[in-house]
Amino acid sequence: MKKINVKTVFVLLISCIFILSACGQGAKETGSNSSSVKTLSVGTEATFAPFEFMDKGKVSGFDVDLLNAVAKAAGYKVDIKNTGWDPMMAGIQNGSIDIGIAGITINKDRKSTYDFSNPYFESINMIVVGKDSTVENAKDLKGKKIGVQNGTTGQMAAEKLFGKNNKNISKYETSAMSFMALENGDVEAVVTDNAVANEYVKKNPDKNVKTVDDKTNFSPEYYGILFPKGSELKAKFDKALNDVLDNGTYTEIYKKWFGVEPDVEVLKSAQK
Ligand code: ARG
Repeated sequence: MKKINVKTVFVLLISCIFILSACGQGAKETGSNSSSVKTLSVGTEATFAPFEFMDKGKVSGFDVDLLNAVAKAAGYKVDIKNTGWDPMMAGIQNGSIDIGIAGITINKDRKSTYDFSNPYFESINMIVVGKDSTVENAKDLKGKKIGVQNGTTGQMAAEKLFGKNNKNISKYETSAMSFMALENGDVEAVVTDNAVANEYVKKNPDKNVKTVDDKTNFSPEYYGILFPKGSELKAKFDKALNDVLDNGTYTEIYKKWFGVEPDVEVLKSAQK
């Protein structure tokens, strides 16, 4: 009896070791087998720090880190290119681009042409003016030259206040160009997303600029990841985004770029 037991235990032990090592090997193999992981093409407009900007020839920023984490959780790789805003939008519509990430606000109008992931960031428009400007709110911009990035919610907000074809609203192709217009004196104010306005002012102390907020005339918005209408990626990325929100990865990325803790619960309650 005693002999058999020892033998059985030994055989069991050996088979356990064998199975465990086989499992370990299997996991390693799939982990390094990148050829089975699909790489999705991603478009962005990378003059929108801290969300996306060019750093040593590479697109960098909060959106890049977040998309990498979400894509990984969904089982994909991503290739993010600085396509520009309009080509990104067009590319997703014609199927040459799988995903857009560019601090893109989820709104009704866009939802008729595209699909969005669940919200991943809360934003609101803000005004950037020269340090000695007397502008105190959005209404004070009346009659003044305003710069916006073409096709953005900054443009929509300015048009809502001062009329669609208002000659005082100048539309620029990139976010950076609208700030350049402010520096050149071509416009007196820029209307853009608050985190971008704050970052620009912080990074350019020599430009004598300041932000002016207006929570009355501007309304909160949420950013989403953009997909072609009907894309199978939406459901997968929504699930992966929730994983990243729940497992602390989102918090880690948020703290890296904004230096403070995000309110993950508020973000999750914004999901419909
Ligand atoms: N959130 C705004 C919008 O969706 C502005 C986005 C601009 N993004 C950029 N990468 N330039 O209209």
